Amino acid sequence: MNANTTQMNVMNIPLFDVPATSMPALMTVPEKNALKARIRDLLKRENAVMVAHYYTDPDIQSLAEESGGYIADSLEMARFGKEHEATTLVVCGVRFMGETAKILSPEKRVLMPTLEATCSLDLACPAESFSKFCDLHPERTVVVYANTSAAVKARADWVVTSSIAVKVAEHLAAQGKKILWAPDRYLGNYVEQVTGVDMLCWQGSCVVHEEFKTQALEMLKEKHPEAGVLVHPESPASIIALADVVGSTTQLINAAQQMPNPIFIVATDKGIFYKMSQAAPEKTFIEAPTMGEGATCRSCAHCPWMAMNGLDNLATTLESGNNEILVDPVIGQQAMVPLQRMLDFARQG
Ligand code: 13P
Ligand code: SF4
Repeated sequence: MNANTTQMNVMNIPLFDVPATSMPALMTVPEKNALKARIRDLLKRENAVMVAHYYTDPDIQSLAEESGGYIADSLEMARFGKEHEATTLVVCGVRFMGETAKILSPEKRVLMPTLEATCSLDLACPAESFSKFCDLHPERTVVVYANTSAAVKARADWVVTSSIAVKVAEHLAAQGKKILWAPDRYLGNYVEQVTGVDMLCWQGSCVVHEEFKTQALEMLKEKHPEAGVLVHPESPASIIALADVVGSTTQLINAAQQMPNPIFIVATDKGIFYKMSQAAPEKTFIEAPTMGEGATCRSCAHCPWMAMNGLDNLATTLESGNNEILVDPVIGQQAMVPLQRMLDFARQG
């Protein structure tokens, strides 16, 4: 067996089902307002604060805003949860975000509306096979994306989010380091292309971003020549090649606000439109197409796991105290090292 075959076998990416995207529970406006008021009371009662990702339902995001919580990308979610004085963090997003909050604040209680909300990148990178992959390449610096389990982070030298992946890779390249990267192959390839650093990539992917269709996007650009194209770097290279800006969710929102274009085509989860429209109310946002040749539309630009966060399960969680995120303390302490390294690096930059 040659070295490449060994690597692919060790990678052992499991098959997994992508759940159907759940729809928010149907409620009248007065019912919804009553439920939101109940959640606000429960947050006070539990000394809790909401930390929500931009991809969650607009009802979740607006409630986070109204109740003194926070809506952010995965790096800022981690920072906010660590620094806030609340004793309970209610993380509305996907499981790795809850785990990151718990690792950084082991003394706090971390709840999530559901423990079922995971991520295709996390699922594609089981800790055991990842560890074997690292063992095969001891000369490489192990850099993992935040979208991984606590156990995978515990095996890493660095954790990065999309907002600082390029900067960290440049920093390591300047020291002559070679990188072992996991799990998102598209983000890994993008970082390699931008920085020129030697990267050996795990072959995971995001089920949302890999669905954007190049030809259909080219046609949409032709139809709207005045449009700016904003792309999250979890997208395939052919989509990134059509971008005016490539960046994390926060970076894309900032670009929408700062760039002069009246229209933007946005290649990321459509949950981001809630904050993008707030940041640039006079502008028009169009979803990048997921239909076209080879389309499966398993997610249709909306993460099925993010969609599992609803007002109803949020209320139940706060009432019952169920759905608490627990991380093995030993794994947590090991994972804290590369996570803290990322936060320190981000603060300096
Ligand atoms: P951000 O760090 O840009 O928010 O990305 C997280 C994510 O899961 C994107 O799919
Ligand atoms: Fe994971 Fe993709 Fe969902 Fe982000 S959008 S949480 S990368 S599956």
